[in-house]
Amino acid sequence: MTEGTFYVTTPIYYVNDKPHIGHAYTTVLADVLARYHRLMGRDTFFLTGTDEHGQKVQKAAQRNGLAPIEQCDATVVRFKELWKKLRITHDDFIRTTEKRHTEVVREILQDLYDRGEIYQAEYRGRYCVHDERFFTDKDLVDGRLCPECRRETEELVETSYFFAMSRYQTWLIAYIEAHPEFIQPDFRRNETLGFLRRPLGDLCISRPKSRLAWGIELPFDKDYVCYVWFDALVNYISAVGYRRDPAAFARRWPAACHLIGKDILTTHTVYWPIMLKAMGVEQPRTVFAHGWWLAGADKMSKSLGNVVNPMDMADRYGVDAFRYFLMAEMALGQDAAFTEELFITRYNNDLANDLGNLVSRVVKLTAAQAGGVVPAPGAPAEAEAELKENVLGAVAAMQASIAGMQIDRGIERAIEAVKAGNRYLDKTAPWKLAKEGNRERLATVLYHGAEALRIISGLLAPVMPERMAALRRAIGLAGEAVERIEIEELARWGGLPPGAEVAESGALFPRITPPERAAAQAPAAAKQAAPAPGAKPLLSPERLAQVELRTARVLAAERVAGAEKLLALRIDVGGAERRIVAGIARHYAPEDLAGRDIVIVANLAPAKIRGIESHGMLLAAADGKTLGLIVPDRPAASGSAVS
Ligand code: ME8
Ligand code: MG
Repeated sequence: MTEGTFYVTTPIYYVNDKPHIGHAYTTVLADVLARYHRLMGRDTFFLTGTDEHGQKVQKAAQRNGLAPIEQCDATVVRFKELWKKLRITHDDFIRTTEKRHTEVVREILQDLYDRGEIYQAEYRGRYCVHDERFFTDKDLVDGRLCPECRRETEELVETSYFFAMSRYQTWLIAYIEAHPEFIQPDFRRNETLGFLRRPLGDLCISRPKSRLAWGIELPFDKDYVCYVWFDALVNYISAVGYRRDPAAFARRWPAACHLIGKDILTTHTVYWPIMLKAMGVEQPRTVFAHGWWLAGADKMSKSLGNVVNPMDMADRYGVDAFRYFLMAEMALGQDAAFTEELFITRYNNDLANDLGNLVSRVVKLTAAQAGGVVPAPGAPAEAEAELKENVLGAVAAMQASIAGMQIDRGIERAIEAVKAGNRYLDKTAPWKLAKEGNRERLATVLYHGAEALRIISGLLAPVMPERMAALRRAIGLAGEAVERIEIEELARWGGLPPGAEVAESGALFPRITPPERAAAQAPAAAKQAAPAPGAKPLLSPERLAQVELRTARVLAAERVAGAEKLLALRIDVGGAERRIVAGIARHYAPEDLAGRDIVIVANLAPAKIRGIESHGMLLAAADGKTLGLIVPDRPAASGSAVS
């Protein structure tokens, strides 16, 4: 494995139904990462695909009156179309019904069987058809419901084949502990380690054909097909030459980064590593689990009818704006809300106002004052040095945020650079310079405005490839320079050739007028009044158990512009970072808070407060005059449960 390679994968998606925003999110995330890594000159390979076997797909086919393979063929097209529309640049698309995959799976099964890693025994258990998983009695909710999806489980007894996972439990725990980069973010690693504290059972990897015919036949018993997960996970290696092309395989593996949603953590951080271990294959570098998109405060689900259709959003507001929202709005690893309102707010703030405004100012001024040609700059003054430092700082920050899987932070920093660009124009006032006839200063300012945009557009191109190409054309770049972007050119000031002809391109990001709607109610950031004890309805233990209180460490705090009472805090909750907005600015100075431990309601639905996403609420005691933070009496690790 070399540091120069990057192999990114998405989960392969079930083809029982059309793609939804969750699928779009992971795939756009992988695409953005792949584009950044390519821009940084790494040998990059990006794999996505579809998971086509198993009960879910078989049932969907039945429902639709299709043969299973027809169901797959029809649905795969919808995924492929969406990826095309969303400008996804995957290098390969694997379908688990392809021979290149099924044959490798059969070889693996035979090999594991021959070496005693797979054995036959009788199985008795509760099975969830929806999740295609067996559960033990103690996993079940109310003694019968699936702990994952709360659907009814079925009791099943059958002769089965088992993969001897349990013998690797101790190894896996040690491996995870010794490789902190393996499961990310940190709190997901802890989740897996928590899961591994209980004895690990062996995994039933067979399904009798009498119950499920749609799968890969076991090479050692033709009455059975392979459990869909055991088949699916193998895609990550069958697609890149495992057992077929050792040189190709060595080029990609184990430099893999598996992006997954938090719903499939166990399969990827318990089953998969043990499968690889038993096969004698090295572990992938990283499994990164991201959070969920929620519809406001609720889970998105078909039954609630609140699933966002990515195609619709992209049609209405543009593909790049949609990609931007997905990447900027979700702190990687955390859950985030997707509502049209949040979308419009972020779009208008970041893209229409900040970035769109900077582009239109630079292009219009250059057209009006310099004959539409980017002039050669004169000697830089302090304002230029400041702008340059800010913009180049954003380049460094973006590299760090990609390496640290914090894309939202890198984007935020790029928008900071945009704001610096607008401040620069306010301060240097090129329209005044023109009036005064100060041609040299004017040339310097126009050049610097355009040069800042060259770098910023390059930085944001992986997120918004089409719109940033339009921006680059607008500032006079042409030919290869429009789309071929290399990190060296972004990290070096002065790459825009004077003499480039700017082009008025129309508004890159026309402002969206929000649909008439009652203003979103931001939850009170901190309790100010002191209600008499007993003034609220009694709380059942079940309701109380829904409130997740945790300790958190304040990393930094700052005032919220235009709101005297509010502070925006960056906090660490058990290794994950998030932001909360709290109404404590009259009682605490921002600099007094960094490093302090606080207590928060951790599972409060995220809400926008003054344009800042606040995820959680801090606890404070207030009597109307003074306010005091609730803090742990003794040091406790950040993220500790409070009960
Ligand atoms: O689980 N928010 O496929 P799947 C964010 N075939 N991401 C979401 C999401 C949401 N609300 N809903 C889904 C499978 N996702 C298996 C995977 S891999 C060897 C086999 C994303 O079609 C997220 O990435 O149910 C999640 O892991 C994936 O869709 C599940 O897709
Ligand atoms: Mg699922």
